[in-house]
Parts: sequence; structure tokens; C-alpha cells
Amino acid sequence: MKKIGVLTSGGDAPGMNAAVRAVVRAALQKNMEVVGIYRGYNGLINGDIRPLDATSVSDIIQRGGTMLYTARCLEFKEKAGVLKAKETCLKNGIDGIVVIGGDGSFRGAADLSAEGILCVGLPGTIDNDIAMTEYTIGYDTAMNTAMELIDKLIDTACSHDRCSVVEVMGRRAGYIALNTGIACGATAIITTEMPYDINDVVKKIEASKKIGKNHFIVVVSEGVGNSQKIAEEIQAHCNIDCRATILGHVQRGGAPTLRDRVEASRMGYYAVDLLEKGIGNRVVGLQHGDVIDVDIHEALSMTKEFPKDLYKIANEISI
Ligand code: ADP
Ligand code: F6P
Repeated sequence: MKKIGVLTSGGDAPGMNAAVRAVVRAALQKNMEVVGIYRGYNGLINGDIRPLDATSVSDIIQRGGTMLYTARCLEFKEKAGVLKAKETCLKNGIDGIVVIGGDGSFRGAADLSAEGILCVGLPGTIDNDIAMTEYTIGYDTAMNTAMELIDKLIDTACSHDRCSVVEVMGRRAGYIALNTGIACGATAIITTEMPYDINDVVKKIEASKKIGKNHFIVVVSEGVGNSQKIAEEIQAHCNIDCRATILGHVQRGGAPTLRDRVEASRMGYYAVDLLEKGIGNRVVGLQHGDVIDVDIHEALSMTKEFPKDLYKIANEISI
């Protein structure tokens, strides 16, 4: 393989830059040419493509966001869009592409691979909702950001004898909620994966009040979708002042953590290795700490287990 492209697609995630850097530097080491494709699949459709050299990716490993910009590209969901993208690749001599994004982006990568352009997916999303991997680029930073923000809310909840209901991101997945809930000592963690009854949350808060606890954190994953209503119900039933806070997009920004930088670098390097060998139509991920790859279609058909044991621990050790 002589020339590869790299793009970021879907929601941005801290560590995407580290992955881009790894892809570019690894490819140059192997004497391949590399181009950046801008704004996700839009760049392929519009020909927004620029050569990258070793210094193009200097000074980005520590930055959040993505230097390649990202976008959601509806046109690429249609066959005509994929064919336009293929034409751009042929015109520019691009033999393979590293696609950094989530499941949606991998569907696009599968379509392009089917047209003969070898694609390798790297899991880039704060949600950690990609089944073939235990870890996605951006997840660690987002969780740490959410944890720090919840810590701040704890100060206020404590000072005012309040309950703070905090909604964290994750799309339909509750991994950020579960982990930040444990890390911040939440009284309750509410996610779509586990059935919940508001009466159980109320009972738990009441029991904790009886043993002298005066403030509470309830972490809700965004997929549950009604943190304001949950706050109102707790306030109504527990006779405690309650506020709902939606953390929102602050969870997507900021400098990537060490873990995100390192794993993005490992996976980026591995993706280039695959392309060098002429292997495409794969998604790279982590299993038991090892970098692995699986067929894109297989990756898309897999389902991810919610760590119920961790949820149980969280429930049992929180008051
Ligand atoms: P993520 O990659 O984070 O899951 P999206 O689901 O928004 O984010 O997908 C990102 C982009 O991937 C879309 O805007 C589109 O360009 C492409 N994409 C998503 N789904 C498909 C699909 N079924 N077929 C082709 N391309 C797709
Ligand atoms: O996939 C990342 C994510 O931040 C999800 O957690 C959230 O549901 C979604 O993207 C928000 O998307 P948008 O940036 O389009 O508001």
C-alpha cells in the first residue's frame, strides 16, 4: 500500500488527535504517503483532502477535538455518496483509509471497503458503546471530566443539604454513568441497561437520611432521558431540595488523559500495520488490554455486556 488517508467522523472525542498523529507517523515510517480527509466523509465527497507530513501532526497529542474536524455526513449513507467517495480515492491514489469514529462511521467504512477501498476503523467515541472493544478513544477523558464536574456539584449539594441529579452523556449506553457514579459515591445510578424504580431510589435516600446523610448524588445516563422529572420526583417524595444538571458537551472536550493518548497511539499504529499488509474491512480495538482487530460486519453485529457486577457493587457500597 502506497498512500493512505485518515479521517475522523461522528462526535469528536479527546484522543482522536493522538490517533491521527499515530496513523500519520506510523505510515511515514513505513514509507507510505498520508493524506488528511477533512470533516468526516464530507471530505471524501467534496475532495477536501490535504497531504500530511510528520510536522503536520506536531503538538496535537495533548489537544482535545480533532485537527481533521468531524461531521455527520448524510450523503454518505446513500450509495451515490459512497461512489463519489470512491471516485475521490481513485483520483487521489488513496488505497486505504483509517476511519476514527463510532459504529455509524464503521457502517460507512464497510460500504467503502465493499467498493474496494480498504478501510480500518478505530473506535473513537466517549460513549464506549462499541461492542468489539472494551475501550474507546475519549472514554477515559470524558469520564474523568464528568467525575470532576460531579465533584463540584457534591460541594454544593453538601453545603445546601440537597440532592443533585446529574445527567451524563453516553447516547444509549450507561458506561459513563456507571463509572462516574461509583467514582463520585452516587446514592443511585440510573441507566437504560438496568431496570429502575423511582420508589427504590426514594427509599434509599430516606434510609440514608435516617442515618444522618444530608446530601445525595444521583447519576442518570442520558439515554434514560428524564433527569428533570427524576429530580422533581425525588424532591416531592423525600422532602429534600433537588436540582437536575445536564453536563452536556463539556464532557466531549478538553485535553485527553494519558490513557486516551496511549491507547489511541497503540491502536493507530496497529491500524497502519493492517493497511500495510493489505488488510482492510477491519475494526481495531482492545480486549484484555491487547490490541486486536475484527471484521467490520462482525464488529457491528456484536452486543456489549453491561457490567452488572460493577453495578451491584456500586449499589451495595453507596448510601
Ligand atoms: P458514530 O460514528 O459516532 O456512531 P454517526 O452514527 O453519527 O456517529 O455516524 C457518523 C457518520 O458515519 C454519518 O454521518 C455518516 O456519514 C456515516 N454513517 C452512519 N451510518 C451509516 C450507514 N448506515 N451507512 C453509511 N454511512 C453511515
Ligand atoms: O457519541 C457522543 C455523544 O456525545 C453522545 O454521548 C451524545 O448522545 C451525542 O454524541 C450528542 O451528539 P451531538 O454532538 O450531535 O449533540
